[in-house]
Amino acid sequence: MRLVLLGMPGSGKGTQGAALAEHFGVRHISSGDLLRQHVSDGTELGRQVAAYLQRGEFVPDELVLAVVGDAVVSAARAGGYILDGFPRTRAQAERAFELAGPAAATAEAVVYLDVPDDVARARLAGREDASRTDDADPAVIERRLALFHDQTRPLLDYYADRGILVTVDADRPPEAVTQAILAALEPDQPD
Ligand code: AP5
Repeated sequence: MRLVLLGMPGSGKGTQGAALAEHFGVRHISSGDLLRQHVSDGTELGRQVAAYLQRGEFVPDELVLAVVGDAVVSAARAGGYILDGFPRTRAQAERAFELAGPAAATAEAVVYLDVPDDVARARLAGREDASRTDDADPAVIERRLALFHDQTRPLLDYYADRGILVTVDADRPPEAVTQAILAALEPDQPD
């Protein structure tokens, strides 16, 4: 299974990514987790991206690709991936398609986790995870939501045009969202 999870901050990409990776026995690749790992490891790339993460701004494409690209191709070779947080812009999606195509690593499906903004806001404000300093300031949460609407939401049309978009109501308990995703991907599963 090669799957991309798309959704606003707080929609549950990380939560569903972990559950789906376990279900399908493939790697969960989170661009945000990989970037935060570089920051906590104090790598050169981590030093370059830390301020973007702190402000809720997108990290420049070449830095994100440096972190995510090889992981996606190697996971695809090993059986598949659940990719969360990437792509986030049309430019990233097009570049990913160019790079993954020759390696037979392009996504088979894109799942959009649909939640209202207020649900996402409440989840982010309520998360207790000291590593998520981008949840601490309401202005940073608003910036992340605005970037989603401006830059990432247009990808829904891009993937719908490619015929691989599935939309799931993600405003329900995590287990119910997982079941809804599986039902949409595997029509013989109960919703
Ligand atoms: P990233 O790590 O991708 O964060 P995000 O998009 O802001 O999303 P979150 O991790 O906050 O939310 P989520 O949708 O994963 O939900 P989660 O499952 O965690 O990116 C962080 C930063 O890295 C970006 O701002 C940017 O700077 C940079 N970056 C990353 N990728 C990039 C890219 N491609 N290009 C440029 N820059 C990039 O859940 C959130 C909370 O809700 C948790 O507490 C969880 O327990 C709870 N929850 C989850 N599901 C449910 C549910 N169904 N019901 C109730 N609570 C739930």
